[in-house]
Amino acid sequence: MKATLALTQEQIAFFHREGYLSIPNLTTSDEAARLRDVYDRIFSERAGREHGDHLDLVTHDDDDQAEPALPQILKPSKYAPELAQSLLRANADVVARQLLGPEVSFLDDHAIRKPARNGAATPWHQDEAYNSPNLDYHQISIWVPLQPATMLNGCMQFVPRSHRWDIAPHHPIGHDPKVIGLEVDDPDLYLADAVACELQPGGATVHLGKTMHYTGPNLSDDARRAYILMYAAPPTKRDSPRDFYWLRQQQTAWQARAANAAEKR
Ligand code: NI
Repeated sequence: MKATLALTQEQIAFFHREGYLSIPNLTTSDEAARLRDVYDRIFSERAGREHGDHLDLVTHDDDDQAEPALPQILKPSKYAPELAQSLLRANADVVARQLLGPEVSFLDDHAIRKPARNGAATPWHQDEAYNSPNLDYHQISIWVPLQPATMLNGCMQFVPRSHRWDIAPHHPIGHDPKVIGLEVDDPDLYLADAVACELQPGGATVHLGKTMHYTGPNLSDDARRAYILMYAAPPTKRDSPRDFYWLRQQQTAWQARAANAAEKR
């Protein structure tokens, strides 16, 4: 599909200054509605469960039959090719090149579906806290809601300019090493500076790997569907490795499932 979007110089400058960007028109509202059905289908099928690509971010996730509290699907475009053959994807490719340069490539996608009225918050975190402490990352996440994103249903919130910070200490959510999701220590520190980005369908936000971000619980009567595309330029080796001790603490059922699936491949 042919891209229809190009960011303005103002948008690009804003992104590099603030560490995030809100884009009103990544795709059309029609396409967002069409992809919403595809998205709901793969979640109802628990697509990727046997491949280690389906997980629950906030529970022990050790029961294949239990209703997940905050389900995530890794590589959803593998299970729903419509996501890759979309205007959304074509425009996201352009945005990524504009923001990270010609070296950038599509890394991965994932999807987080917050059920109506019972979704947990995705606590404050920096995405790079999940990565290797030995590398510096040049990555962005393009976060695309497939219905309106509001304060009520858990729109994206950022701390402006936090992309210039180091990675703050994190811990597994609830200090439970069996939980895969990470939360920054002292999350209350960030609330006062948070900027919320409400969006209409077709809009998106973009943030860097170090940008501090959060989405609230979903208090609405509809699911809050987020589709996230990650792009990266090649990471660079750090002179001094960091200590991401929180990664060594984690022992999750998902890690075991993913390792098991990799072994069978
Ligand atoms: Ni994140």
